[in-house]
Amino acid sequence: HAAGGLVIAIDGPSGSGKSTVARRVASALHLRYLDTGAMYRAVTWWMLENGVDLRDRGRVASLVGEVPLTLGLDPAAPEIRVGEVDVARAIRESRISAAVSAVATNLDVRADLVARQQAVAAEGGVVVEGRDITTVVAPDAPVRVLLTASEEARLARRAHELHGSAAAAAVDATRDEVVRRDADDSTVARFLEAADGVDVVDSSHLSLDETVGAVLELVEKRTGVR
Ligand code: DC
Repeated sequence: HAAGGLVIAIDGPSGSGKSTVARRVASALHLRYLDTGAMYRAVTWWMLENGVDLRDRGRVASLVGEVPLTLGLDPAAPEIRVGEVDVARAIRESRISAAVSAVATNLDVRADLVARQQAVAAEGGVVVEGRDITTVVAPDAPVRVLLTASEEARLARRAHELHGSAAAAAVDATRDEVVRRDADDSTVARFLEAADGVDVVDSSHLSLDETVGAVLELVEKRTGVR
């Protein structure tokens, strides 16, 4: 079977490795790749760029529909632009990571972005990755995966990404960001436990290749696609 119009939904907390895993799965199956976290980050970038106070939820809500987001969904080279500006790097800065939960917990923002994500999912042929994909964006997707990892493993991975090291000091510097953000985010999306019918892959003791392999096995089990 060819993957064709297949939709694969992947959720997980930060540091679970879901972005890398989702990209690799999309490449393996010749599907497109949608990073929904990048959309929340890009909206945050635009709001800050325009001097919007993120605590003013009504104002953020009234402006979100105007954010001119464009996404490139090639898993080998994902792109994200706001208007003409390529924001791929800027949205990973720590000032955005620190601010994004204020935007992602705004329910009007979520409604707007979920609609845009569902439009992509409706075309099919895509791996969609985030926090509420298995439950809200694509609850009927034939493959729904919650990627988890122990807090220890997640902190070590984020420390490596951010500081190039998983030494104690780097892990400590990451703890606040990761733990607080997941606590904030989990107030609006339940991604710390699997919803009914969602398969769990725990990557705490798996390499990247093994984790990708585990997801591809689930795809085959659920759909026959390989
Ligand atoms: O996965 P990430 O770190 O790039 O996500 C950025 C933020 O957006 C994070 O605080 C969680 C939030 N998010 C969300 O609430 N729902 C999604 N579908 C994806 C991300």
